[in-house]
Amino acid sequence: MNNSPIGVFDSGMGGLSVWRELRKTLPAESIVYYGDGAHCPYGEKPAAEVATYIDCAVRELLAAGAKLIVLACNTATMIAVKRLRATYPVPFVGMEPAIKPAAATTQSGVIGVLATRASIGSDWFGELSGKYAAGVRIIPAVGEGFVEAVERGEERTPATRLLIRNAVRPLAEAGADRIVLGCTHYPFLAEAIAAEAGPGIEVIDPAPAIARRVASLLDRYALQADETHRACYTFLSAAGTPYADRLRERASRL
Ligand code: DGL
Repeated sequence: MNNSPIGVFDSGMGGLSVWRELRKTLPAESIVYYGDGAHCPYGEKPAAEVATYIDCAVRELLAAGAKLIVLACNTATMIAVKRLRATYPVPFVGMEPAIKPAAATTQSGVIGVLATRASIGSDWFGELSGKYAAGVRIIPAVGEGFVEAVERGEERTPATRLLIRNAVRPLAEAGADRIVLGCTHYPFLAEAIAAEAGPGIEVIDPAPAIARRVASLLDRYALQADETHRACYTFLSAAGTPYADRLRERASRL
């Protein structure tokens, strides 16, 4: 038994889409969430620069007692997860665009993947596509402006709807019947993405699968909290208290 918190990290608010699933799946687990906020979006920055922000966040989470760290950020996972696993003494769970389940279930043989520019340009994206989606056509698309819209709380404005239309319509027109959300900010736009995609296209958020993976690792390493433990939720940020307060407030609405 271990009542220390699970650490969750993202460039900003997107990781709350994973936080929500962890809370649902593991109600006895405390969670310390670190949303950088000062350097978001990561997806438009060079990998070496982002790596320094990630290290800083990981050290803060370890100082807060994290027993396992979820990189609730696809971009950070692609840049740093291998190195972090080799450097720090706790288990790390990374995000992975849900290409595998999408490829296994597509009827049309065409999958759209929405992600940041950094994720789509990374070697790992190519590796995943090669490994899980042989014979399936994958169409990557950058969610231009999606992260910024979610950070500003502008999920439902006409301008955001237009950004979503521009990214999603070409995927639908190319025959995709699965759209994978490859950035943790995007589930906050899932409703509008599904509406723009139209009927018959499934939008896949990997967060529930990530929560199940965390549960299985806690079990494997005997790190679960006591069943009767009263979970507490804390919020940290490189952008200081006002941003951490926004994270807490947003989480309380989920
Ligand atoms: N939420 C993040 C991801 O999953 C990062 C987005 C960004 O900061 O560009 O990739």
